[in-house]
Amino acid sequence: TQLDLIRNFSIVAHIDHGKSTLADRLIQSTGTVADRDMKAQLLDSMDIERERGITIKANTVRIEYPAKDGKTYVLNLIDTPGHVDFAYEVSRSMRAVEGSLLVVDASQGVEAQTLANVYQALDAGHEIVPVLNKIDLPAAEPDRIRQQIEDVIGLDASDAVLISAKSGLGIPDVLEAIVTRLPAPKGERDAPLKAMLVDSWYDAYLGVVVMIRVMDGVIRKGDRVRMMQTNAVYGIDKLAVLKPQMVDIPELGPGEIGIFTASIKQVRDTRVGDTITHERKGCEKALDGFKPAQPVVFCGLFPVDANEFEALREAIEKLALNDASFSYEMETSAALGFGFRCGFLGLLHLEVVRDRLEREYDIDLITTAPSVVYQIYMKDGTVQELHNPADMPDLTYVDHIEEPRIKATIMVPDDYLGDILKLCQDRRGIQLDLSYAGSRAMVVYDLPLNEVVFDFYDRLKSVTKGYASFDYAITGYREDFLVKMSVLVNDEPVDALSMMVHRDRADMRGRAMVEKLKELIPRHMFKIPIQAAIGGRVIARETLSAMRKDVTAKCYGGDATRKRKLLDKQKAGKKKMRQFGKVEIPQQAFINALKMD
Ligand code: GTP
Repeated sequence: TQLDLIRNFSIVAHIDHGKSTLADRLIQSTGTVADRDMKAQLLDSMDIERERGITIKANTVRIEYPAKDGKTYVLNLIDTPGHVDFAYEVSRSMRAVEGSLLVVDASQGVEAQTLANVYQALDAGHEIVPVLNKIDLPAAEPDRIRQQIEDVIGLDASDAVLISAKSGLGIPDVLEAIVTRLPAPKGERDAPLKAMLVDSWYDAYLGVVVMIRVMDGVIRKGDRVRMMQTNAVYGIDKLAVLKPQMVDIPELGPGEIGIFTASIKQVRDTRVGDTITHERKGCEKALDGFKPAQPVVFCGLFPVDANEFEALREAIEKLALNDASFSYEMETSAALGFGFRCGFLGLLHLEVVRDRLEREYDIDLITTAPSVVYQIYMKDGTVQELHNPADMPDLTYVDHIEEPRIKATIMVPDDYLGDILKLCQDRRGIQLDLSYAGSRAMVVYDLPLNEVVFDFYDRLKSVTKGYASFDYAITGYREDFLVKMSVLVNDEPVDALSMMVHRDRADMRGRAMVEKLKELIPRHMFKIPIQAAIGGRVIARETLSAMRKDVTAKCYGGDATRKRKLLDKQKAGKKKMRQFGKVEIPQQAFINALKMD
């Protein structure tokens, strides 16, 4: 395809502002997919994505559009995830395109992720077309939102396109705007091949599929190509474009986006951001690489039933094939037995992986307290990375501990501002900025990531009735007075519940934890002390009193069926319990005990 007939773009938006609905409309209105094959939210291919309405993996589609100027254009849409945990995937997909549609819900206005994503688009040098969606809603205020985009983002929104992705209103204007207002890609057809590895994933039938954007030169089926970072050489087996199903194509030239397969064994053999060139007569200089995404939140995953360990291992290995940002290694815990210590990009990523393991692979899991990565500076001058509070070295050898900090941007109607400031202050936050856009406040805080990983989202949502939006980026490490808090149940330490906390917050958290556990652990035939401790010193204690009578006693021994039912019920309840010494702790307790306040 000729360069001037290509437009490559992405859609940036806050969650729920209508990105997927718009993408579906663009696909549908150009006849890319026949109406009868149209499923709602076509681009969100994983079930869990459709269910939760979030887009996790970047997807792409090639659309052919006959424009008003009489020419047929090739439009390549790269879909990007909207959630903070996947900011890294957003940034890399953006480097593969020249422009963005900025979708803003005309009844809601600019939100935290609108800002975060639009800044990434601007960083990538994009031309941006503002699109105001949901103008069918009575609450839509396009004029006010247009002004807000100008005030908050500093983007001229006077010729924003007004649409309803739901009804289809304005969709032809969006297509024309893509062609007339976004730039065509640049590139040299005769130069040596230079293509960017944008994404890769595992397909059950095809193996590893690699998505590329060609910068210069031409790639053809059968070509021998070299990945410049890994230096591995592969033969191209299949070359295709996504419409969104794969359609084979003989070659891809400059400005084009497509996929290939090349008998690559694992997703891990491909590096996103790598430069692909020909084995012979390749290009000299690689594109600027990306830093790989680093897991920032770690937790242990253990099967409730120890017999399911092998099944869990298989499931985790399969998931990891398709998700290079997810890391895992085997872990043994005195109390929980064999499991895995896993690393995630953030809390949502953790939840998504845990959900998939439980639902797609049907394994009941115990999730231990999520932990961030601490830098432990030892007195002997070495530095250790701590992923698991259970591995905390003896304090006598430790000089100091540093923890990751984030810059959090929160947007909220000003009625709730006071609650937000209090929440951030309680979480050891330092206010950096406070400004207003209409009746919405934008606050920027410097916060320890450790205070955000447990239940910050939940708290934020509940104190603002869902009206706040939140985005964050890790800024660096800082020293603080951190200690390891252990939890003892019936005098046995439960390592899965130990956590790193700030010394000033330890008493509060310790008390909250033991009180919660007292509610969550069922009574036994004996008294159970529940304690929180720092080192050898107990900072909080509760006692769960013993159960008085046999539960079946009240059946008077007479009604056999009732008695059996009761016992069956107990048995079923046990399935989700785990034995700690003499005490059984329900699976739910591990998650709920961590929720504070
Ligand atoms: P993520 O995939 O989570 O990032 O969300 P998204 O931005 O893709 O939003 P999505 O397209 O899933 O739309 C969110 C909700 O808004 C859905 O319930 C849509 O049906 C609805 N919606 C989208 N466009 C419109 C519109 O033009 N008008 C109205 N009334 N509702 C819309």
